Amino acid sequence: MCGIVGYVGRRPALPILVEGLRRLEYRGYDSAGVALVDQEGLWVAKSAGRLYVLEQQLDFTAPQTRGLGHTRWATHGAPTEANAHPQLDASGRFAVVHNGIIENDRALRKYLEQKGVIFKSETDTEVLAQLIGQLYDGNLERAVRQALHEVSGTYGIAVMCTFEPDVIIAARKGSPLIVGVGQGEHLLASDAAAILAHTTQVVYLDDGEIARITPEQLRLTTLDAIPVTKAVEEIEWTLEQIELGGYEHFMLKEINEQPEALENCLRGRIDLAEGTVHLGGLVDCARELTRARRIILTACGTAWHASLVGEYLFEEMARIPTETEYASEFRYRNPVIDDGTVLIAVSQSGETMDTLAALREGKQRGALTLGVVNVVGSTIPRETDAGVYLHVGPEIGVASTKAFSGQVAVLSLLACYLGRRKHMSAASAMQFITALSQIPRQMREILQRADEARAIAERFGEHNNWLYLGRGFNYPVALEGALKIKEIAYIHAEGLPAAEMKHGPIALITEGMPVVCIATAGVQYEKILNNISQVRGRGGSVIAVATEGDKEIRRLSDHVLYVPDTLEPLQPLLTVIPLQLIAYHAAVLRGCNVDKPRNLAKSVTVE
Ligand code: G6P
Repeated sequence: MCGIVGYVGRRPALPILVEGLRRLEYRGYDSAGVALVDQEGLWVAKSAGRLYVLEQQLDFTAPQTRGLGHTRWATHGAPTEANAHPQLDASGRFAVVHNGIIENDRALRKYLEQKGVIFKSETDTEVLAQLIGQLYDGNLERAVRQALHEVSGTYGIAVMCTFEPDVIIAARKGSPLIVGVGQGEHLLASDAAAILAHTTQVVYLDDGEIARITPEQLRLTTLDAIPVTKAVEEIEWTLEQIELGGYEHFMLKEINEQPEALENCLRGRIDLAEGTVHLGGLVDCARELTRARRIILTACGTAWHASLVGEYLFEEMARIPTETEYASEFRYRNPVIDDGTVLIAVSQSGETMDTLAALREGKQRGALTLGVVNVVGSTIPRETDAGVYLHVGPEIGVASTKAFSGQVAVLSLLACYLGRRKHMSAASAMQFITALSQIPRQMREILQRADEARAIAERFGEHNNWLYLGRGFNYPVALEGALKIKEIAYIHAEGLPAAEMKHGPIALITEGMPVVCIATAGVQYEKILNNISQVRGRGGSVIAVATEGDKEIRRLSDHVLYVPDTLEPLQPLLTVIPLQLIAYHAAVLRGCNVDKPRNLAKSVTVE
């Protein structure tokens, strides 16, 4: 959602800020702004809409070497120029950019209005800017500290003022901030992608911390002014990973990166000789995990679908009762957590507000908490007892693809890890992880036949209603296939456990309606063939995803997309790829903005 970039150094700030904002575009936003600062004053430009609209008003030769930038996702007030950040105080000498929501903004606004302050925007952020302006008595850090003691809600903020132009004050509560450490310069960002072109040396702020940043110095304290010492960490992502590298869209790049991403995810974690799985992040809680009596997986969106695969995996392989919960439901429904409950939060970004809140709820009730997260250093892994990173590299496309396969791969590893601690023999674990290690190669085979999925998109891309059917391990894949085409091609689609079709959705099937049926080899193969006949009997066009070598399916379906054979629990890693490709090509053919679909954000940091 919203994005923050800040710079204090020796180089002109504007190109650095704008480049940083461009790299944050993928997170979703609807207005943008920048402020440059020197002793003379604040120079501010803001606009509604895309970044290029803002860029048209900028003078890139501006000499200032300090400044802030922001991309805003409207919450308080419409996405207008007035509501865009930076927000200023009445004197025009203090600038604030803010991610998050100030909850008591109405009370503060009223208080400030009584003191004669006239507001120019509808934002909660302006309240903060005005408050800081009022409280300033010669020390920006102190004014910010005092202001933050007055506010409730969540924030990642950066504040600058003309009286101390060398200084950025940044503070975090519930909304991520990272300080990039350079030579004679510091950068600030809400997401590593914004500063990666300049430095890989970073310091992560934790909740309740304030950073005072100048070109030469970074000083961290708590909200109550207690000094904090922190190590500088290295970001493992590279610049190439966050660039298009010749692809037309990040989504297509990330679909194609899946074989390599999975190799990175599995590297060093599977021991084929021993038939075991090594997960370094779980070492400290191995004993507790062995005693786990129940698992709750909690997540949102695509991560929820991956979690559902995890539920099937844990029950099948580790025989541990498992539930998958929408984080937004779990957090508010007084969940039962008893002794031996393990709560696993699954998230690409590690910042999704509902998932974070569900995690906190589970933790408070005594669950052992694990994170299955992609972004290193993000909030969820900082708050869990232990966890496993995906290591699939940055995911920029809003529609999640390689993070889904990374999540399923990590949950497969975890299922095997837990299974081995329960009843699973070394021989069956060996068979499982051998099959898992083949998946990247098999993914490459599917990607080589990407044209077949494209042909399906060309043939059916005009249709506005699709069904996706799957059973067992492929039921979550049906949900994921439907979500992908909804998100980026704006096609209405429903994913279903295939047998449920007869309880209602079958009424939707009309002549020629595309129905994607995942019909790979497995215990329910015959059952899904029955479902296929039911669809055909009503005139639907069946697009089957089937196991290579299955000739019978050709006779029963209108179109077949083949995937290589693997163990049933691992099929989602393969069957999801043709569905990602169909959604991608349908979106391109329909002229949709694939990487920035309407109304969606990459990381949803509000409720
Ligand atoms: C947003 C994204 C989805 C993602 C979901 C959960 O809705 O658009 O692609 O699946 O958030 O995100 P997370 O970062 O927690 O996996």
